[in-house]
Amino acid sequence: MLFAKFSNFLALFILFAVFQEPALAIKKSYIVYLGGHSHGPEITSDQLQHVADSHHELLGTILGSKEKAKDAIFYSYKRHINGFAAMLEEEEAAEIAHHPDVVSIFLNQGRNLHTTHSWEFLMLERNGVIHPSSLWKKARFGEDTIIANLDTGVWPESQSFSDNELGPIPSKWKGICQHDDGFSCNRKLIGARYFNKGYVAFGGKNSSKVSTARDYEGHGSHTLSTAAGNFVPGASVFGVGNGTAKGGSPKARVATYKVCFPPINGSECFDADLMKAFDAAIHDGVDVLSVSLGGDPIDYFDDGLAIASFHAVRNGVVVVASAGNSGPTPGTVSNIAPWILTVAASTLDREFQADVKLQNGQYLKGTSFSKPLPKETFYPLISAAHAKAANALAKDAILCKPGTLDSKKVKGKILVCLRGENARMDKGEQASLAGAAGMILCNDETTGNDIIADPHVLPATQINYTDGVALFSYVNTSKDPLGLLMPPKAELNMKPAPLMAPFSSRGPNIVTPEILKPDVTAPGVNIIAAYSEGTTPTENAFDTRRTPFITESGTSMSCPHVAGVAGLLKTLHPEWSPAAIRSAIMTTARTRDNTVNPMADADNEKATPFAYGSGHLRPNRAMDPGLVYDLSVNDYLDFLCAIGYNQTMINSFTGSKKHYDCPKKYSLLNFNNPSITVPYLFGSVTVNRKLKNVGKPGTYVARIRQPAGFSVSVEPDFLKFDKIGEEKKFKLKIKSKKAGSEIEYVFGELLWSDGKHYVRSPIAVS
Ligand SMILES: *[C@@H]1O[C@H](CO)[C@@H](O)[C@H](O)[C@H]1NC(C)=O
Ligand SMILES: *[C@@H]1O[C@H](CO)[C@@H](O)[C@H](O)[C@H]1NC(C)=O
Ligand SMILES: *[C@@H]1O[C@H](CO)[C@@H](O)[C@H](O)[C@H]1NC(C)=O
Ligand SMILES: *[C@@H]1O[C@H](CO)[C@@H](O)[C@H](O)[C@H]1NC(C)=O
Ligand SMILES: *[C@@H]1O[C@H](CO)[C@@H](O)[C@H](O)[C@H]1NC(C)=O
Ligand SMILES: *[C@@H]1O[C@H](CO)[C@@H](O)[C@H](O)[C@H]1NC(C)=O
Repeated sequence: MLFAKFSNFLALFILFAVFQEPALAIKKSYIVYLGGHSHGPEITSDQLQHVADSHHELLGTILGSKEKAKDAIFYSYKRHINGFAAMLEEEEAAEIAHHPDVVSIFLNQGRNLHTTHSWEFLMLERNGVIHPSSLWKKARFGEDTIIANLDTGVWPESQSFSDNELGPIPSKWKGICQHDDGFSCNRKLIGARYFNKGYVAFGGKNSSKVSTARDYEGHGSHTLSTAAGNFVPGASVFGVGNGTAKGGSPKARVATYKVCFPPINGSECFDADLMKAFDAAIHDGVDVLSVSLGGDPIDYFDDGLAIASFHAVRNGVVVVASAGNSGPTPGTVSNIAPWILTVAASTLDREFQADVKLQNGQYLKGTSFSKPLPKETFYPLISAAHAKAANALAKDAILCKPGTLDSKKVKGKILVCLRGENARMDKGEQASLAGAAGMILCNDETTGNDIIADPHVLPATQINYTDGVALFSYVNTSKDPLGLLMPPKAELNMKPAPLMAPFSSRGPNIVTPEILKPDVTAPGVNIIAAYSEGTTPTENAFDTRRTPFITESGTSMSCPHVAGVAGLLKTLHPEWSPAAIRSAIMTTARTRDNTVNPMADADNEKATPFAYGSGHLRPNRAMDPGLVYDLSVNDYLDFLCAIGYNQTMINSFTGSKKHYDCPKKYSLLNFNNPSITVPYLFGSVTVNRKLKNVGKPGTYVARIRQPAGFSVSVEPDFLKFDKIGEEKKFKLKIKSKKAGSEIEYVFGELLWSDGKHYVRSPIAVS
């Protein structure tokens, strides 16, 4: 609705503009990116002022005066990222693009936001016992490390952010805590800020819930506590899944940078804000940034998140981002820059079972997070189609749409609704308003077997399509159909697990196909973590419940699992580069499930690296990978040279006075990524890589699993390392065995092993 109204409005505006030009020009918010700064990381206030002046001056040359420039600019990026965000007309923007200092200019675009058994599934603990060899113990639960997120803020009163048993705030911390809205920080939650000018510039409404770091949506509290929440015993979602909640780095300090707000034109978070947040986070001393948001994959210099994360990684900050929830369609993966650790989502071995028993003896498998029925007895069942109000259509009533149900028919019964069109938990609301004792939500044909545990407002469960057909057939044809909802309970050790989540965005990388994305997968389905008590589990007004913990699903939830583990690695190996941490996590990941079969996709077919990247996160292995594929800032610059940015742009990007020369001949295939992708191979090609020893001296031998139709050989096929930090090069020769015309990817694997460490890289060739 809002969207239709908005575009009409815009059309009117354009019409107007045609007739009255040039009086009415539309101003939009743009980001003008100028690359890096020539000042160092220690910045004086004079230098900050100087940078702001230079921005006013630059824009002033185009707008006619410095005063106009000051009015137009709403953010100056002054510390690490060089650039500004400003309200401009299209023609002004076009003119700025030609300025020699400008690397890129792009619209301030919108992005979307993309427990506690997870850590046991990841083998950091077992039955609540943490083995001395666990990465948790070795890395002192992430003590000393600062993990931050860019999200919807945080609920500071959540027990996950209590500073129990934590010492003084690390002296390297330079961040602040914004106290609006009764917000206060402590020794756990050491920083909290919000950046909303880009949101407001886009037309977002400013309010007390927008001008605060407090979380009114729940998403940010959930992701931050997953990454680094403190131990909270007895945490559950309405009594289900009871256990000790904790994050990946439970003793790390956390900070939040709120850049996501109620959606406007379908987007919650805007580039201008997130670039400002990155600039601050780098300055503040954050070690790991967890970013559970993204847009469509786009060119690097037009992507605020890609630009900002480059500056973060360059300053030693690990950036972990979600792959997106646009799967299983191929080519949907976002956050594809090679300096980002990109995370897909897969299941845990836990299900929240809430089964249905019918009086005819049938037993249907359901899943739920709602409260149990008051009595564990049979209740009368009624199809929502049969419970329709006099003036409603049966096809609307069966979907349990608002105003379609007759409460006289529904009262005290279990209502059977069909999934589709209106939101799942809204159907629960309608059932509840009509006086139902409970609800069974049946999947339709398109949702098939994909059942979701929801915290409905009334006792309810969800069943799959085939079971739904059986249930409808029973209620349609029986005179007195009766059924019972079993109380929801957490069931562990489900097999097979992990399975790839259908929603997780898939490769190939459509911007730079030579870089395999996503990088890894981690738990992202039905994850229990902290929630905001400023909203309700269904996020609807009719719901008056509050809960300190909730389950959520998405790559938004898998991302902070990896961020938490990155925090542990940072504590254990403070000298490792972000690329070394990324490599350690990738090369030690696992591609088999808990039945020791290759991990399956949601359709039960074998999953590929386009779904899971290098595989499923394995923290205890990541602490001791043996070897890493390391990368320096110059490698990233070579990468940018190779994809077509010219010398001028590279020099602005680095911001340093000394020039960086693009190599004369450089192949993207030689970018030292921990995975190997060769798109569109004709004939044969050589791929170069370099391994760095981060473990004991030893001799590693290469093993190849050949991709079908190609032959791959390694030269040399063993590497001897005598000391830590030593680097050795090798070549992979990949030859196509037959001339094919199909552009189908096939997959293989390269494994380096000294008998103790297994350094694995997926190979994708087409
Ligand atoms: C939002 O409102 C607050 C309080 O009225 C004000 O201080 C702040 O400047 C406003 N922010 C923006 C971006 O307009
Ligand atoms: C959760 O478990 C703890 C200890 O096992 C118990 O004391 C507590 O009552 C349980 N809470 C709920 C809501 O079941
Ligand atoms: C809102 O979204 C639509 C569709 O994505 C887009 O075409 C339109 O330009 C957006 N509006 C603004 C103001 O950016
Ligand atoms: C639906 O669930 C039942 C278990 O209640 C199972 O037997 C059946 O195979 C499932 N349907 C599909 C299509 O997987
Ligand atoms: C049950 O009845 C509804 C309408 O009353 C109909 O849409 C549906 O197809 C029927 N389902 C079965 C399995 O009989
Ligand atoms: C580099 O690229 C920019 C933008 O495409 C262009 O304006 C500039 O002239 C190029 N510089 C050189 C030295 O080719």
